[in-house]
Amino acid sequence: MSVRILGIESSCDETAAAVVADGREILSSVVASQIDIHRKYGGVVPELASREHLRQIVPVVREALGDAHLDLREVDAIGVTEGPGLVGSLLVGITYGKTLAAALGKPLVPVNHLEGHIHAVFLEAHKSGIEPALPAVCLIVSGGHTVLYDVRLKDGANPGAAALWSYRKIGQTRDDAAGEAYDKVSKLLGLGYPGGPVLDRLAAAAGDAPPPVTFGPTRIKGNAYDFSFSGLKTAVLYHLRENPDYQPEIAAREAAIGHGQRKFDQLLSLCSPKTLGLIREFQNAVVRELVDRTTKAAAEFGAPTILVSGGVAANRQLRAAFDERSAALRVQVYFPSLALSTDNAAMIAAAAYPRLKNHVLADVSLNASASLPLA
Ligand code: KG4
Ligand code: ZN
Repeated sequence: MSVRILGIESSCDETAAAVVADGREILSSVVASQIDIHRKYGGVVPELASREHLRQIVPVVREALGDAHLDLREVDAIGVTEGPGLVGSLLVGITYGKTLAAALGKPLVPVNHLEGHIHAVFLEAHKSGIEPALPAVCLIVSGGHTVLYDVRLKDGANPGAAALWSYRKIGQTRDDAAGEAYDKVSKLLGLGYPGGPVLDRLAAAAGDAPPPVTFGPTRIKGNAYDFSFSGLKTAVLYHLRENPDYQPEIAAREAAIGHGQRKFDQLLSLCSPKTLGLIREFQNAVVRELVDRTTKAAAEFGAPTILVSGGVAANRQLRAAFDERSAALRVQVYFPSLALSTDNAAMIAAAAYPRLKNHVLADVSLNASASLPLA
């Protein structure tokens, strides 16, 4: 009989629930995004996020159970994101998860959101019958995080969905996360929030538009596996200030977005070749930083595997660059599908499975942990 875990995720601006069997089979996965609510403020507003989670949590869990054709009583455990994330948002999922677990007499499994992102890669690989080999270098790259971990099996654990892993942090961003840089540059360019998806597509549409500026490698003193993206964002800002000819089209795009005209073709038609060239150069720089430092870490630590997860892992150029580089280095690189790259609850249910198997459980005293570390 398989072990079915109901996962609940509410750490940021997605209310999500999913049912996963034996840590790898996704029976259902429902995500209610709040992007339309936060968009007009140019970023996630914590107070609004908590309130929206409150509205969504019950119907989202009900839908996930319905899609899996399960009754609440048929679930074997509840896995819930403990942190890191926004405290008010986390508390909604935690309180609901605790209440369900207590009412049903089922185990409550606390999950680190970042560990969930790593499991997302394993969920995806499992669809092709693959279990990525450990040790691995794992890049988690999202709106809130840009961090590199060395991931391996915990001492004595056998490979597989039920294995506990251990983590060592190899590097992290010293300022902005990569997704945050995308979002901020998008705002500077009048392209709205979130910035990643639209800049990704505009960069691809730039073709060989001449580069109006180029961004060299970021120099980092000390740990070669740390990242920094605020300098790049500032370089874009200064470039825009020094070139006032960008302003009319930025204003036109802001106006279009203000009128709800955010379709890709509409925005593309409001971008000059110069703007497209700038976006391509920005993306080239972000991708180069992420791929260079991650592949260098994999080579130094002799890891056969690279795992890439988090919202920015959806970036097409990043995927292509990793694929190309890893083929040359003979390292296997794994990404989640687009749906599993961004926040979801299937990854939380998957990460809960080894903890359940190894009795790493919580009780009703579980609280939100805004900066819960993974290592
Ligand atoms: O993991 P996620 O859904 O939420 C957290 O931040 O935890 O990641 C969202 C971030 C946003 O900053 C968004 O701009 C970025 O991921 N993003 C992308 C792409 N899709 C989403 N960045 C670059 N290229 C993309 N295609
Ligand atoms: Zn996330």
